[in-house]
Amino acid sequence: MRLARAVHGGVLKRHFGTTAMSAASEPLILPFPSGAKGMPTDAVVRFRHRLNDTGLFTDEALARLIDEQPRDRFDVLTMRRNPPGGERWTAGEAGGLSGAEILQAVKTGALWVSCRKAMELHPRYKPAFRQAMAEYSAEVGQPILSASASILISGPQMGIFFHADAADTMLWHMRGTKTMLVYPATDDFISERAMEAILLKETLSDAPYEEAMDAHAERVVFQPGDAAAWPLHGPHRVINGDSLNVSVSVEYTTPRSARTNGAFYTKGWLRRRVGLDLGASRGTPEALQSILWATSKPLRLVERGRKTVEKRHPRCFDVDLDAPDCVSWREGYGPAAFALAAE
Ligand SMILES: [Fe+2]
Repeated sequence: MRLARAVHGGVLKRHFGTTAMSAASEPLILPFPSGAKGMPTDAVVRFRHRLNDTGLFTDEALARLIDEQPRDRFDVLTMRRNPPGGERWTAGEAGGLSGAEILQAVKTGALWVSCRKAMELHPRYKPAFRQAMAEYSAEVGQPILSASASILISGPQMGIFFHADAADTMLWHMRGTKTMLVYPATDDFISERAMEAILLKETLSDAPYEEAMDAHAERVVFQPGDAAAWPLHGPHRVINGDSLNVSVSVEYTTPRSARTNGAFYTKGWLRRRVGLDLGASRGTPEALQSILWATSKPLRLVERGRKTVEKRHPRCFDVDLDAPDCVSWREGYGPAAFALAAE
């Protein structure tokens, strides 16, 4: 799960109420277009933001952030350029390099780095994150029960493989161009059992992918200042354009997604652990969802000691500004380390 969390980060418990607006004079999240109000339920909701105006995402600011980011929350990854939709990344390290050097390597190499949870934990970034989440909460008309966000810095033609996230997710794009394909959150694209397994941490967030699925995906092109939120559990994948990409990936929970996930978790747990089938997790009536959500809390405690898929991935390369693609493979590894997700 460490690498899965490189995409969206973990979830920090915190309440972003609809009335908790910041004292800042300029909004960071611009008012949604009329007709796009409310949470994304069936389709992607696109909107604009002004986070670039904070100066927190310039080369200088990012180099300083990388220097200050704790190494246990800093992921360094490589992948093939324009990777197939289901191909995973491979983890490495960037020891001994400054933030400016790492940023330079990402710009020119085949690299992708993530400052996990930097938005909610770093003191320079936290105020902007709290303000933007309060404004988002007001736009969608939902309290945000918890939220976490990572800063993703990725090179030309890098990508994120096909996967589905357990929480509500959205992307605030800062620099470069990228295209996201968002697929329907239905059994044809991510089965109910697969989603239960992700929530129960039996599998990582990746899922089986076939190229034919792309015909049914909504394509979202992100330019600087663009943002989008998509329906809960909607699988997605990303391909970068030809220059450095900088984005903030946000994972958050609303009362609605907490109830929905509670139903998936409890029904999935009962099916697996005691052989009790309460029927489909999708489409559980709201009243029953609330009961199942309450039930999921003690079950999560029971599960705490169980072995999950969370693990430390092997470090297969070092970042090297003089190596091809700025990737110096460690002994025993090479491009063959790239693996298809969900195998
Ligand atoms: Fe994601």
